[in-house]
Amino acid sequence: MSTRIGILTGGGDCPGLNGVIRAVTLHARQTFGWEIVGIRNGFEGLYEEEYVDLTPSVVQHLLPRGGTMLGSSNRANPFAYPVKIPDGRVETHDVSVRCLANLAKLDLHGLIVVGGDGTMSFAQRFIQRGFTRIVGVPKTIDNDLEATEYTVGFQTAVEIVVEALERLHTTAESHERIMVVEVMGRYAGWIALTSALAGGAHVCLIPELDYDPDRIIEAFHKRHGRGVSYSIVVVAEGAKAKGANLSVVTAGSDAHQEKLGGAGQRVAEMIAARTDYEVRTTVLGHVQRGGRPCAFDRELATRFGVKAVDLIAEGAFGHVAAVEAGKVVARPIEKAVKKLKLVDPAGELVRTAKCVGIELGS
Ligand code: F6P
Repeated sequence: MSTRIGILTGGGDCPGLNGVIRAVTLHARQTFGWEIVGIRNGFEGLYEEEYVDLTPSVVQHLLPRGGTMLGSSNRANPFAYPVKIPDGRVETHDVSVRCLANLAKLDLHGLIVVGGDGTMSFAQRFIQRGFTRIVGVPKTIDNDLEATEYTVGFQTAVEIVVEALERLHTTAESHERIMVVEVMGRYAGWIALTSALAGGAHVCLIPELDYDPDRIIEAFHKRHGRGVSYSIVVVAEGAKAKGANLSVVTAGSDAHQEKLGGAGQRVAEMIAARTDYEVRTTVLGHVQRGGRPCAFDRELATRFGVKAVDLIAEGAFGHVAAVEAGKVVARPIEKAVKKLKLVDPAGELVRTAKCVGIELGS
């Protein structure tokens, strides 16, 4: 029987996932002659045994396409899996034993797990429970995995936000308004800060720096004092005022993460309550996760996909592909789960923002 490997995409989707699937399939098939099994909807497909055979013809035309052809799920935690019981209620069960049995049935030489910190932590638990032949590819628009300088999806999200900021600049200026733009980034401000720098924002609020509302108002007064009567404010969904709580829409549980939303609206209401300026709010939401990946993400997805197959070929299991000083390298999977990579409040990016007059509220 020929060698077979598997691949799944877990957690929230992002642009570039299809590029990883394509590169894995082409390299595994053409270089090593391996079979590739695509597992549908993250770990859900492993539990439900939903698979698709991946061949070069199946992955043709995938590179520029957003989303993931395998589907994804951010509820499919195999260690707290939502199961409907006969009376209609949903309970969470540990279904990892059945997943391990299904992995054995598939007889995989290696499994490539493409995901963020949640998906990688499930992968790590399977390794601890005996299925050691796992390698990872880091993806998330939030770019918050400690293991790597860049995750697949981040640059495309930044491109989308920057385009939105450019568009908001012109309408803000025409109407002399303050435009508040809420962007994704649950606990890390990479999207917000990078986009604020590239999109010429005037205020940028990130989860790593709790903001002082007085500083924001003061920044507007200064701009208006100089005769500039519009402003662009970028707010990460995880940003909050000093002493305040996160803007949580739905509390988290074993089965899913807390859902954030409303941080931008809070800032807009604060500005409206304390000034006479006209304020409007735009929430970019899942627009940041959809559509065509930018060139950087297509290239990164391809390099990560090839690296993941190479890691399997070398027997370097328990590692993820990562970018370090511009090169694609292998890092231990623990590096992708231990702690989030946050913006350094004393780092170069924050200093650069301050040097060009972006008010960070702190
Ligand atoms: O983790 C990536 C992310 O884009 C977060 O920034 C955001 O909070 C979350 O996904 C939203 O995920 P969903 O709406 O799919 O649950």
